[in-house]
Amino acid sequence: MALEEGKDSGVTFRINPSRAFPLRLLQFSLVFLALGLGFSVFSMYTTRYFKIQNVVPIAQTILEQTPIKPCFEEPISLESWIRPPSKLMHTMNDSELLWRASLVPRIKSYPFKRVPKIAFMFLTKGPLPMAPLWERFFKGNEGRYSIYIHSMPSYDPDFPPSSVFYKRQIPSQVAEWGRMSMCEAERRLLANALLDISNEWFILLSEACIPLNNFSIVYRYISRSRYSFMGSFDEPGPYGRGRYNGNMAPVVNLTDWRKGSQWFEINRVLAVKIVEDTTYYPKFEEFCRPACYVDEHYFQTMLSIETPHLLANRSLTYVDWSRGGAHPATFGKGDTDKDFFKKITEGKTCLYNNQPTTLCFLFARKFAPSALEPLLELASDVLGF
Ligand SMILES: *[C@@H]1O[C@H](CO)[C@@H](O)[C@H](O)[C@H]1NC(C)=O
Ligand SMILES: *[C@@H]1O[C@H](CO)[C@@H](O)[C@H](O)[C@H]1NC(C)=O
Ligand SMILES: *[C@@H]1O[C@H](CO)[C@@H](O)[C@H](O)[C@H]1NC(C)=O
Ligand SMILES: *[C@@H]1O[C@H](CO)[C@@H](O)[C@H](O)[C@H]1NC(C)=O
Repeated sequence: MALEEGKDSGVTFRINPSRAFPLRLLQFSLVFLALGLGFSVFSMYTTRYFKIQNVVPIAQTILEQTPIKPCFEEPISLESWIRPPSKLMHTMNDSELLWRASLVPRIKSYPFKRVPKIAFMFLTKGPLPMAPLWERFFKGNEGRYSIYIHSMPSYDPDFPPSSVFYKRQIPSQVAEWGRMSMCEAERRLLANALLDISNEWFILLSEACIPLNNFSIVYRYISRSRYSFMGSFDEPGPYGRGRYNGNMAPVVNLTDWRKGSQWFEINRVLAVKIVEDTTYYPKFEEFCRPACYVDEHYFQTMLSIETPHLLANRSLTYVDWSRGGAHPATFGKGDTDKDFFKKITEGKTCLYNNQPTTLCFLFARKFAPSALEPLLELASDVLGF
């Protein structure tokens, strides 16, 4: 009995605390549960309170940006790296964007079928009056082009979903004529376009530009060219070398100084060179201010120092400076007829892949909105689309 009692007491001794333990655990859990509930109710209340009061938009932004992780994440496929971004709007600032855009694959051949595209980059103030003409130009060529628009941040575009320009705006900032903010806008366009791995050629256009040929001709001309079309010449006199500032040496010497049209066409290699540049940028930023118009010198000079053998040294965009002054001629309703296009294209020769050709311009500017109507009438006959 004593043994049994001893056993019993022993058992009791061993069992009792283990019975008491879950009870205490339960009490503890209840306290924690109550605390947790209280806290979540409190945080829900404060979140709602702050949301309504709009006191801390930052807290709200963080809440909105926190991605909700799916229960089963998809395994990473190549597709996720090469798919172009589904939306052009993003929250990257310029430093982040340029850094991201400067990432380059080191293996030259693509392990997937890549149809190289032309990125048409529209640098505009607001509306695109020539949009109906461009729509016709692009029609039927899906998969061989992409469109990017940089406009004044205050401008709210209203393209219908059926338009090729629908939701093609990139995050933009104010760009002033002849100032570094203009080159920054151009770099922003290039960087956004570089995020699509299929973009191989990059054309800068304005709202006053029109295509002079159909898409097939433009695509063939650009894709088969060994050179990029960046105007880049050494001009003596006050509007050329006269704009050079000696403080740029030795990064840029007077003999390296180039001038050329702002409206360029470049390939992916040169586009990366422009977005990754931290050498020339500070020099031009500091020492090329009006009357040094930086958009006529920065990329032109930089690329002719870095990669002169890749430049055609001419622009693909026709412009008429013959009327003199700081701005080229603008063509309106009265100017735009068959003879006008004859004048642009006739009697000109230039080099294409080191061979003379008469097809020198694929685009032209500047056209006033009133020119749209005659242009649409002439397009199929004169422009070939
Ligand atoms: C972009 O954001 C990063 C991180 O906040 C900051 O270091 C950088 O200076 C910003 N760049 C610009 C151009 O605002
Ligand atoms: C400019 O000139 C200096 C001195 O002659 C030279 O060291 C430097 O490499 C030149 N810069 C370029 C971009 O050629
Ligand atoms: C363009 O000019 C550079 C000198 O600035 C020269 O090296 C290059 O060969 C020229 N390109 C063509 C296609 O003529
Ligand atoms: C493009 O224009 C050229 C020359 O005008 C013409 O021969 C060709 O058929 C046109 N292509 C298309 C797809 O319209």
